Amino acid sequence: MGRELRLGFLVSLLLLLLDLCSGSFVGVCYGRNADDLPIPDKAAELVKIHNIKYVRIYDSNIQVLKAFANTGIELVIGVPNSDLLPLSQFQSNADTWLKNNILPYYPATKITYITVGAEVTESPGNVSALVVPAMKNVLTALRKVGLHKKIKVSSTHSLGVLSRSFPPSAGAFNSSHAFFLKPMLEFLAENGSPFMINIYPYYAYRDSATNISLDYALFESSSEVIDPNTGLLYTNMFDAQVDALYFALMALNFKTIKVMVTETGWPSKGSPKETAATPDNAQTYNTNLIRHVINNTGTPAKPGEELDVYIFSLFNENRKPGLESERNWGLFYPDQTSVYNLDFSGRGSVDIATGTNSTSLNGTTWCIASNKSSEIDLQNALDWACGSGNVDCTAIQPSQPCFEPDNLASHASYAFNSYYQQNGATDIACSFGGAGIRVDKDPSYDSCLYMTAGSNKTIASNTTAMSSKSLSTRNIFPTWFSTFLLATFISVLLEVNHV
Ligand SMILES: *[C@@H]1O[C@H](CO)[C@@H](O)[C@H](O)[C@H]1NC(C)=O
Ligand SMILES: *[C@@H]1O[C@H](CO)[C@@H](O)[C@H](O)[C@H]1NC(C)=O
Ligand SMILES: *[C@@H]1O[C@H](CO)[C@@H](O)[C@H](O)[C@H]1NC(C)=O
Ligand SMILES: *[C@@H]1O[C@H](CO)[C@@H](O)[C@H](O)[C@H]1NC(C)=O
Ligand SMILES: *[C@@H]1O[C@H](CO)[C@@H](O)[C@H](O)[C@H]1NC(C)=O
Ligand SMILES: *[C@@H]1O[C@H](CO)[C@@H](O)[C@H](O)[C@H]1NC(C)=O
Ligand SMILES: *[C@@H]1O[C@H](CO)[C@@H](O)[C@H](O)[C@H]1NC(C)=O
Ligand SMILES: *[C@@H]1O[C@H](CO)[C@@H](O)[C@H](O)[C@H]1NC(C)=O
Ligand SMILES: *[C@@H]1O[C@H](CO)[C@@H](O)[C@H](O)[C@H]1NC(C)=O
Repeated sequence: MGRELRLGFLVSLLLLLLDLCSGSFVGVCYGRNADDLPIPDKAAELVKIHNIKYVRIYDSNIQVLKAFANTGIELVIGVPNSDLLPLSQFQSNADTWLKNNILPYYPATKITYITVGAEVTESPGNVSALVVPAMKNVLTALRKVGLHKKIKVSSTHSLGVLSRSFPPSAGAFNSSHAFFLKPMLEFLAENGSPFMINIYPYYAYRDSATNISLDYALFESSSEVIDPNTGLLYTNMFDAQVDALYFALMALNFKTIKVMVTETGWPSKGSPKETAATPDNAQTYNTNLIRHVINNTGTPAKPGEELDVYIFSLFNENRKPGLESERNWGLFYPDQTSVYNLDFSGRGSVDIATGTNSTSLNGTTWCIASNKSSEIDLQNALDWACGSGNVDCTAIQPSQPCFEPDNLASHASYAFNSYYQQNGATDIACSFGGAGIRVDKDPSYDSCLYMTAGSNKTIASNTTAMSSKSLSTRNIFPTWFSTFLLATFISVLLEVNHV
């Protein structure tokens, strides 16, 4: 009996781990419609240091592809609508495009998807008619060099492809788009490519504020909206919009096509009328989104279904036209400081490495170099903190108080801690690609004084401090981790019984 039970736990543990590997992920869109952004190398460092593993770009810019080489970061790259005509006309154009734009940088740069065209239904001129022929030519070009299984071809859409999205079960594609959507859906189904959609509860809320509650748009609602046809309960608009797409696909009998959310997010600033565009709301939306996705919750119509999501956007982009909010979707300012703090891990503030309890760290905490990280990782993170991270590293220069002991771990610890304290002292501010670790003992020694929260608010005051509300609702442990602990604990108990 004990043995069988234990076997059961081992199996569930294994399933859990498998589940982890196939779990949904969150990436970030790296748009560059701005004239004040850091060079791509710096942007790639920023992404890496914040432990972001998936990035979407909108073209195949050489500097950007090179910047992400050998980072392990997976890239979605794009063919802009302006390039659809040549790529749709001749196979040889697609072959040349692949040969010049992708092959020189692959596989050092890990490209996993090519989006051919973006939101064509919103684009002026009739580019919709070009998108499927261009997708086919790009896929053929990939097949010729044997990469068609490694790099998938799709195209992104706005929710405007649907003519109905409420209730979700009534989701339906706009029949005026059928001429290109039908062959596209066939293409996606045949090649196992996802349907890519951009989902913006912000716009739905802004444009019909009277009937949609802000809480519902921000994943904070305590009440549910019921779909009268299916009885499914919706607690947030994101799920309702994704399910409208699933139902639209099912209505056309495309049941196997997966959905990928290639853009979503919330602006931190807007015109005076855009009252919901605040750093607090942006932080709440993205924090809740990440937890929702990482948890593999799925949606009411597809519970547990993998749903990968890209947050728009890495930087504020000052050249985007339109209302003020358009230029304020970024997680970072062009100077690489955070607009607000965001935990990409979605795992709350517990330190998994030490197993310490976030509530036991309610006093002052510090961030130091983890003794598990490699020299090269430490050096890169140290260089980053003292450079792009805007940390004052004077104290670790020769003859300064924190120079001795003159070693990498000690210098990195000092720099990591300063960055951490200046950026809200959240666990993400101590990630450094895994090289940082939070501690509750003051690492200061002799006349080397480590910064504490509040000792320098200059930079922190430009970011929104984590609101106490979102702190208190954080999961102490990620679900998989606590289940893991529980399973281990019970196996140990059974083991003891057995003996
Ligand atoms: C776009 O092109 C397609 C195919 O050529 C055609 O069926 C459709 O009517 C065109 N739409 C518009 C708005 O011109
Ligand atoms: C469907 O698409 C056409 C062409 O873009 C547009 O004119 C029409 O308003 C759309 N219908 C709905 C219900 O969204
Ligand atoms: C807004 O909601 C109210 C009450 O729920 C409903 O009576 C009204 O018809 C809705 N208005 C629109 C435009 O959907
Ligand atoms: C995580 O998933 C479980 C079930 O799979 C669900 O009960 C829980 O509400 C989810 N948590 C979040 C934050 O989505
Ligand atoms: C974590 O903190 C809570 C609240 O202070 C406490 O009840 C719990 O025992 C702590 N757990 C650990 C592992 O320290
Ligand atoms: C944490 O907070 C509790 C109550 O708010 C307090 O009693 C405790 O001493 C604090 N712990 C530390 C390490 O500051
Ligand atoms: C690494 O740090 C942990 C706690 O901070 C400590 O217990 C451990 O002994 C250290 N390991 C080495 C190899 O220094
Ligand atoms: C805070 O740090 C900045 C630069 O890192 C420095 O210019 C400023 O003088 C510091 N302010 C205080 C009060 O220490
Ligand atoms: C924060 O920093 C950005 C760019 O570094 C700047 O444009 C903005 O005015 C600053 N905000 C505040 C409140 O200081």
